[in-house]
Amino acid sequence: MLIEHSETILAVRDLTASVNGIPILNGLNLEVKAGEVHAIMGRNGSGKSTFSKVLAGHPDYEVTGGTLTYLGQDLLGMAPEQRAQAGLFLAFQYPLEIPGVSNLDFLRLACNSRRRYLGLSELDPLDFDDFIQAKLEIVEIDPAFLQRSVNEGFSGGEKKRNEILQMALLEPRLGVLDEIDSGLDIDALRIVAKGVNTLASPQNSTIVITHYQRLLDYILPDYVHVMEAGKITITGDRSLALELEERGYAWTEDAPEPLEIA
Ligand SMILES: Nc1ncnc2c1ncn2[C@@H]1O[C@H](COP(=O)(O)OP(=O)(O)O)[C@@H](O)[C@H]1O
Ligand SMILES: [Mg+2]
Repeated sequence: MLIEHSETILAVRDLTASVNGIPILNGLNLEVKAGEVHAIMGRNGSGKSTFSKVLAGHPDYEVTGGTLTYLGQDLLGMAPEQRAQAGLFLAFQYPLEIPGVSNLDFLRLACNSRRRYLGLSELDPLDFDDFIQAKLEIVEIDPAFLQRSVNEGFSGGEKKRNEILQMALLEPRLGVLDEIDSGLDIDALRIVAKGVNTLASPQNSTIVITHYQRLLDYILPDYVHVMEAGKITITGDRSLALELEERGYAWTEDAPEPLEIA
């Protein structure tokens, strides 16, 4: 495989994690190399969002075993803000609203924090205005959104586009996008996917978490993994997503029963 020599961005080994003492991740293994796009699919409740929260360092999610290595560093020893500065970007399923904080200020602070880490000069408000213009075009966001409070009153699609804008500004090494497609109409889905594809590079990698095959018509993954009961049970290429859809698995919010997919 042509990417065999690539740098390992993320290595997850036998990861177990609990929430409120309840085990949710049960021995998750995953390796992501530079330049790769991975899709994690799976029924609702299989632990996909829990995995993204653990990667972010959310305090409610306790890692009980295994290792998480990001760019050769022990991720578990890093505070959430250190992870972000080091280029780990998480777009959450339900982006946070921050009333009273202007989106523009928020994005500039986040961007400058990452730039400090990279040894780049910080951008003052005027420079940042220039810097952000080109990024706005990638996600087709109206500049008026910058003056509003972070995500406050944004529609579902606007929130997701704002997440991709943040990713475009931060230029992460690993972007983890949790259900970036949920609640999007087809036009917004195309814009979000275009943003993700524009930002993909041989140095960076992306994990897209979704339970719809639809997203993978626009973001073409190198690997597709199925998560079931807190671990990855099947890994394949893009055809796996199509096959699962054809075989009638209900990748929907209200799938009635757990499905056997092994
Ligand atoms: N904060 C929490 N408190 C209690 N249970 C949780 C919490 N977060 C997740 N869970 C449980 O963990 C399981 C996996 O959830 P989640 O990771 O959100 O799945 P997915 O994203 O695949 O739909 C579910 O049974 C869910 O109820
Ligand atoms: Mg989820």
